[in-house]
Amino acid sequence: MNKKVKISVVGIGLMGLQHIKAIKKSKFSSLHSIVEIKKKGMELSKKFKVPLYKNIKILLEKDKPDAVIIATPNILHETDTIQFLKSKIPVLLEKPISDNIKSAKKIITSANSNKTSLLIGYHRRHNSIINNIKKIIESKKLGQIVSANVLCWFYKHKKYFHEKWRINEGGGPLGINLVHDIDMICYLLGPVKYVQAFKSNNIRKFKVEDTASVNLFFKSGALCTLNISDTVTSPWSYELTAGENPAYPITDQSSYFIGGTKGSVQFPNLKLWYYKKERSWWNRIHNNKIKVQKSNETLINQINHFSQVVMKKEKPKVTGLDGLNSLIIFDAIKKSSKSGKRIKIN
Ligand SMILES: NC(=O)c1ccc[n+]([C@@H]2O[C@H](COP(=O)([O-])OP(=O)(O)OC[C@H]3O[C@@H](n4cnc5c(N)ncnc54)[C@H](O)[C@@H]3O)[C@@H](O)[C@H]2O)c1
Repeated sequence: MNKKVKISVVGIGLMGLQHIKAIKKSKFSSLHSIVEIKKKGMELSKKFKVPLYKNIKILLEKDKPDAVIIATPNILHETDTIQFLKSKIPVLLEKPISDNIKSAKKIITSANSNKTSLLIGYHRRHNSIINNIKKIIESKKLGQIVSANVLCWFYKHKKYFHEKWRINEGGGPLGINLVHDIDMICYLLGPVKYVQAFKSNNIRKFKVEDTASVNLFFKSGALCTLNISDTVTSPWSYELTAGENPAYPITDQSSYFIGGTKGSVQFPNLKLWYYKKERSWWNRIHNNKIKVQKSNETLINQINHFSQVVMKKEKPKVTGLDGLNSLIIFDAIKKSSKSGKRIKIN
């Protein structure tokens, strides 16, 4: 397949629209069609000059695309994705892989049995900063990784909470925001053995959490604290520091801190800290600013990668198992914050 990969997008809401923009900017793909149940589908079909299908079944009967992006609500991910996998059409599935573990496993089984590619939409992994950090960790420049600290502090404005689902169970910052950080820290530091978490709604008083702190104990022996709040006035979160989405005014700060026996790294404002002389807190610690271009093109990079996957030139960077892994950890966070107990990840 040397031509552009023809991609259909299912579910044209907030995220579906972002994917359409990315497809149009990618030199490897073109928009094949859209699937949207709401009335707005007609307008969007005219705007983007592609056919509109009312549901997936009709699309599959009439004109199969080369590939599909699924950006429907999480509860529909299983049925929507499996229909395409059964037709051997590769899927880029928005995160989280599903709303529950059993259903996530069914999606993975279907991808395997149909020998069809599945890429999960954790788009931060397509950022060159993250690829750089991964290389630094693997090069052992930091020595053995001891601990990590991830800050996800931001302030969500009042209007955000007018949508009622955002103030009830499942609509809080753990499920919406922290899942990205869970995926990323596991990508960087490997599999997790134990999870322990606390959450609080002390400030906003909604049914859902506004703040949580999560401890991860990695199989490597490294520890990590992820601290999230949507009610802290602060510049320290990936969204505000990475510059991936121009909707967030960028701050010149870092939100990830990873420490090893020989050095530490902070990012997205990338600095590597180390000793020139003997490692000792009595000696001056130096830092090198690592120049990596901040980029707001991660969604385009993701589409480029997906197109290569469809053309069988690359393997999915974020697999179904990665999607399942972050869902299992998210589930453990929910359980631990209710019971107060440490949860073992198998
Ligand atoms: N990667 C990210 O950073 C990110 C950000 C936001 C949302 N998401 C994910 O993207 C997905 C969609 O979220 P959203 O915020 O865009 O939601 P949304 O509600 O804005 O959009 C969902 C769209 O799907 C449509 N839809 C519902 N059922 C459908 C069906 N059966 N067939 C076709 N269309 C259907 C709805 O009409 C709506 O237009 C979710 O899985 C969410 O977790 C990812």
